[in-house]
Amino acid sequence: MVPSITSAAVEAMMSDLAGSARRAPEAYLAAARSTLLRILSRPELLDPSRLVGRGEGLSRNLLFGTEAISVWAMVWPPGVATPVHDHHCSCCFGLLRGALRETWYRPISDTHAVATLDAVRQPGFVACMMPSGPNLHRIANDGPEAAVSIHVYGYDHRVQASSIHRTYEIAEG
Ligand SMILES: [Fe+2]
Repeated sequence: MVPSITSAAVEAMMSDLAGSARRAPEAYLAAARSTLLRILSRPELLDPSRLVGRGEGLSRNLLFGTEAISVWAMVWPPGVATPVHDHHCSCCFGLLRGALRETWYRPISDTHAVATLDAVRQPGFVACMMPSGPNLHRIANDGPEAAVSIHVYGYDHRVQASSIHRTYEIAEG
């Protein structure tokens, strides 16, 4: 039988994490980090059909969702990039395969932001943050291969369309 995301091990990990969403922010982020690291170290537990994209844009495949968290596999074809954005909820992600460029920004108004940091994330990388940084970033696949990342957001996917609070235009620094 092909392993599925609903395999008991993964379901239990994500259920445990959903339960920890009520804990203090630092405790939740630590739990999210360890959950993502465990998933990245056991990719065979994920249903491979959830790790492929559809079309030329960014694909978001729901892996797990409750009122507390939603977990997604995101598939990034070469050339795909998000707008600069911040989040209305906690945002944790880990890179499963490929490489993604993450650029951080500092807001200079409600509509514009300037770049501050830039890094290329490699498989195994995990980042976890609360929305109150502020934490503005842009993620882009500017490499030649598709990339796959696993995201854990602190929102109910049945209530809200995405984790994005606001998008920004890029201003010259
Ligand atoms: Fe984001």
